[in-house]
Amino acid sequence: MSIDINVLPAVKTPFYWYDMQLLENTLDVVKRESDRYGFNVHYAVKANANIDILKKIHSYGFGADCVSGNEVARSVEAGFASDKIVYAGVGKSDDEITNALRNDIFCFNVESIPELEVINELAQKEGKIANVALRINPNVDASTHKYITTGLAENKFGINMWDMENVLEALAKLDFVKLIGLHFHIGSQITDLKSFKGLCVRVNELQQWFYARQIIVDHINVGGGLGIDYTNPDKEPMPNFAEYFKLFAEMLELRPKQSLHFELGRSIVGQCGSLITKVLYVKNGKNTDFAIVDAGMTELIRPALYQAQHKIENISSELPVKKYDVVGPICESSDCFGKAIQLPETKRGDLIAIRSAGAYGEVMVSEYNLRSRVKAYYSK
Ligand code: LLP
Repeated sequence: MSIDINVLPAVKTPFYWYDMQLLENTLDVVKRESDRYGFNVHYAVKANANIDILKKIHSYGFGADCVSGNEVARSVEAGFASDKIVYAGVGKSDDEITNALRNDIFCFNVESIPELEVINELAQKEGKIANVALRINPNVDASTHKYITTGLAENKFGINMWDMENVLEALAKLDFVKLIGLHFHIGSQITDLKSFKGLCVRVNELQQWFYARQIIVDHINVGGGLGIDYTNPDKEPMPNFAEYFKLFAEMLELRPKQSLHFELGRSIVGQCGSLITKVLYVKNGKNTDFAIVDAGMTELIRPALYQAQHKIENISSELPVKKYDVVGPICESSDCFGKAIQLPETKRGDLIAIRSAGAYGEVMVSEYNLRSRVKAYYSK
């Protein structure tokens, strides 16, 4: 099974194609499996911020996890309830904080003492009390690509435990922030659930640390990070959400009345999107031929940036298979979607689908080489 060429719109390539039925199926499962335990899911808007996608996700009653003022504004526009919006990021600007305060968001996930102080000052100006969760760097290895590992002591994210006494001292002096949660996120594209077990163990230890100081927060937020199967998108169209939520239900020791929150991005939208591109030229190469397509790293940067491998399919041809390096038109050697990829014999004009591009695809588009912005189309 692959993308059926007959369902695609006859429009200019390249373009993003979203399978809304798959998105709905995925959301059904996320809803069912998280509701089983009363867990709260905030969709990580950074993975895909298209308004149609956001509206669909919001219609399931999920909250939003934002990392910029514009993401907060887009989420509100899509209909997400402000009191289900969390806002994280190491570098929130004053304007972004003020706008979030004006929107009465659920919680700021705070990453440093100076940030706490600025939120306090701006909240005072607005005559509000800002709810904050401390983003703690749990020092748990996510065993994923180094650019998407966030929970190690050397990463820029979160507050390290050796600084926590100072944070509590600072908090005690700030009247316009209220500590309501602890936030963690160890990384992205995590396919081995063991890393999440490690996170649970660590959160349990840290809760003891806070408990010893008479602190019990209202909620724990364990971030996102659940990975998807880039190799077999059709066989595994969604990750095992049942196992994932069950693990937290079994391993994480919540205090009475404490709620558990998640920030899932890729696992929700990753598999529903494909980048559809057309073959411009087939050119002889030294080892394999090149299939030069009309999309490049400007439309999907993941292969160039993280050596990510997305499944590549020629959806026009049924000829015998040959090997190709599938490359884009951008003036960079890293503008390559895959090397020595087996494709049915490929010719100019064939359509190529680059799969599993629903997360961190369209949102990371750039205009380098003055490229035009790709459009998005959605299945019914
Ligand atoms: N929460 C926080 C605090 C995060 O930093 C992230 C992702 C998420 C939640 C959502 O993680 P997810 O469930 O999507 O794994 N551009 C990279 C991924 C960057 C992830 C950044 N943070 C990629 O294409 O692989």
